[in-house]
Amino acid sequence: MVNRQSGIAQQLESIIGKIDRNMELLGVENAPCYTVDGQYSKLRERFDHRFQWTLSFFTGMIVHAFRYTGDPKYLRYMNRLQNDYRKKVTVDALETMHDLGFLYSLSEVALYKTTGDRNAREIALLAATELAKRFNVNGRFIDAWSRMDGTGEDVSGLMIIDSMMNLPLLFWAWEETGHHFYKDVAEAHADTTIRCMIRDDHSVCHAYKFDRMSGESEGERNHCGYGVGSAWARGTAWALYGFAVAYRYTGKAAYLKEAEGIADFFIRQLPENGVPIWDFRLPETAPRWIDTSACAIAACGLLELSDTEACGDRARYGAQAAKMIETLSSPPYFAEEPEAENILHLAQCGELQAGAIWGDYFYMEALLRLERQAERFW
Ligand code: GLY
Repeated sequence: MVNRQSGIAQQLESIIGKIDRNMELLGVENAPCYTVDGQYSKLRERFDHRFQWTLSFFTGMIVHAFRYTGDPKYLRYMNRLQNDYRKKVTVDALETMHDLGFLYSLSEVALYKTTGDRNAREIALLAATELAKRFNVNGRFIDAWSRMDGTGEDVSGLMIIDSMMNLPLLFWAWEETGHHFYKDVAEAHADTTIRCMIRDDHSVCHAYKFDRMSGESEGERNHCGYGVGSAWARGTAWALYGFAVAYRYTGKAAYLKEAEGIADFFIRQLPENGVPIWDFRLPETAPRWIDTSACAIAACGLLELSDTEACGDRARYGAQAAKMIETLSSPPYFAEEPEAENILHLAQCGELQAGAIWGDYFYMEALLRLERQAERFW
């Protein structure tokens, strides 16, 4: 039973109020998928190629809202989106990218884990299969962005750190079906990430390039952080949470060791209030944008570690996460103004943004985890 008196519970009530207002304002037809100027309503491009990794953060919030309140209106909303989610991994399968894990863990997997809906299970397994098909056998990684039929812009041979958070869909598919292929692909990708993307100090690079045909390494690349050699904060958070979850599924000590090392690196870079700037290795002249979304994702990763029995420093990670979430819960980070459709202000995506829908999701997940109310959709 939720303690409705606690500050966390009050914060969750406020978030659910926003979810309800957004559902009413935008409906299913314009299901929120991006934040522009702190508003969800300014971009209405459901399953648009450019924003495809971000639609499921709202559906993730919807399923959490259902679990928290029991109100069937949230399930009705989810059910009305199912045909779109199915179409994306059947009719439009070649339009997909590595981000199928973000999209389906927080929609169809979340729904299946919550209601046992077999249709949702089938759609999520189709998505996992499409994700596994992106595996490059020679380089042993999941190809991030290229079309798998070789047409379109040639961006093949690239792995990115964000993919660590897409692996849970594969691990879930393995657990659900017993089919080892899903697990083998996920582990191979995680192992290549350790070998190529994590540096000795446990900072991570954003991207790494291989020759698509031979699988030979071509070295570090960057598309989201400051540059090659820098340490993008959100990428560090993806790696932290991704390795912590990979350990939960596999029990492989190497994954826990990486998660702990990355967590320690992340924590060492933080200012006193626990909210990072967007890249931990910036030249003097670079802008110092705050990224609340990196903070919220990392807090979830730290809470995952604090729930991991074999983790040596559980209490410290849990306390650090609680501190970060407490800081995010007030202005200027928490969006208290009634007109704000989003939940957290200040995030980096290319440049400083007024907010990011993925940060909103992870903030809600962290609050639920702190309340011991979060089902693990990952
Ligand atoms: N593509 C994931 C991110 O920007 O964090």
